[in-house]
Amino acid sequence: MRQGRYWLDTWKHLIAYDSKRGAATVDIRSIAGTINMTKLIAGNWKMNGLLAGSVALAGGLAEKVKANPGLADVAICPPGPLIRDVLTAVDGSSIAVGGQDCHWNETGAHTGDTSATLLADMGCSCVIVGHSERRADHDETSDQVKAKAEAALKAGLVAIVCVGETEAERDTGQTETVVGRQIDGSLPGGATPQTVVIAYEPVWAIGTGRTPSLEEIEAVHAYIRNRARESHGLGSGLRILYGGSVKPGNAAEILSVEGVDGALVGGASLTVEDFWGIIESCP
Ligand code: 13P
Repeated sequence: MRQGRYWLDTWKHLIAYDSKRGAATVDIRSIAGTINMTKLIAGNWKMNGLLAGSVALAGGLAEKVKANPGLADVAICPPGPLIRDVLTAVDGSSIAVGGQDCHWNETGAHTGDTSATLLADMGCSCVIVGHSERRADHDETSDQVKAKAEAALKAGLVAIVCVGETEAERDTGQTETVVGRQIDGSLPGGATPQTVVIAYEPVWAIGTGRTPSLEEIEAVHAYIRNRARESHGLGSGLRILYGGSVKPGNAAEILSVEGVDGALVGGASLTVEDFWGIIESCP
């Protein structure tokens, strides 16, 4: 799992195929984003779970994924102190493990923070940056999110960059303005579809049981894709996840929306049954 630079399932599949043919190694950086349209289902455990239950959850998921390969690319992002044990619990499966945040510096006097370099060194493949809870609770700016995403890329991690409007911003017709500003300001320099994933998470849909209509999700995803193309040259190979009250009961319809390349799941990623229900819903 340590290679972790590009999406793992794709990496593994391409390497296996390649070695069977005895051909030279394929440079997946040039092709992964365009051939891999498999959905990505990422679980953000937030500040939930204790050691034994988290190991059981990760191990249970790993068993499901091993027994039913290829339904989706799967990632889980546990609290930092659990990463080591979760990595051990999913060993031998294709599940990627990620952090929920990282600092923009590689090292230094930053009490309580974790570097992207350490996450990568432990065996993580990705890290969430700019989640709305961090933007709100820790006053994170898009400049800081961008610096964190750049640190993630430098460390060889995929950066899952979160954007999304508040309810007041949606109600006053500012969704595109806010999300556009976050895209422009938060995406790292040198971003590619293989190193960056965008998660659209309307703040008012997180943990509330409410979701935008399918038409609204499609429209915002299309807007994000265009904006990322204009501002950073990212386009059709870019994965854009939807996040906000994704559950087994609504996953199939949300994941079928044009331009939705997967989901970033909070509450429903905390049980094997619910998270697996979402993974199984992938079209
Ligand atoms: P919920 O799925 O609990 O709404 O959380 C979404 C989220 O914030 C994922 O990052």
